[in-house]
Amino acid sequence: MKNLTIKSIFKVYQFEELSEEDRKLITLAKNACNNSYVPYSNFAVGAAARLADGTIVTGTNQENAAYPSGICAERTTLFYANSQYPDQAVDTLAVAAYNQGSYLQSPIPPCGSCRQVILETENRYKKPMRILLYGEKEIYECDGISNLLPLSFTAKNME
Ligand code: THU
Repeated sequence: MKNLTIKSIFKVYQFEELSEEDRKLITLAKNACNNSYVPYSNFAVGAAARLADGTIVTGTNQENAAYPSGICAERTTLFYANSQYPDQAVDTLAVAAYNQGSYLQSPIPPCGSCRQVILETENRYKKPMRILLYGEKEIYECDGISNLLPLSFTAKNME
């Protein structure tokens, strides 16, 4: 037996330490939370994606009485970006969440399905995606989904 250790790297920022363009992207993700449709969870998530050509798109979580029919903010955003701008890689994705009267204090962790879709998007465009996870206290930045989804399953595993 031996141990396999997989390393994830996150940079931890205060909002003021981020570049102006990252602050803008996060602000758009926060504002997008106002457009969430969350009658069941009241947990509003917003995401904003900056594409390779500088275009920014936003998206929110959309819930449904038949629970699995809803979708997270990250996937709404990436599917919209990939539908409207299929020739543009996603450079950076910012995510924020609002619950019980305030934005989350700690960085919002994307769910497993969203991590898998981020991975697919990276592979599609052959470019790691910078991911900014917003929290009021601190912001996590990671350079690529491998930090959030180690030992991932891709089309290569089916070869
Ligand atoms: N949700 C997201 O939109 N993104 C995440 O990263 C985590 C969870 C949504 C799904 C559901 O509408 C609500 O938050 C509660 O799980």
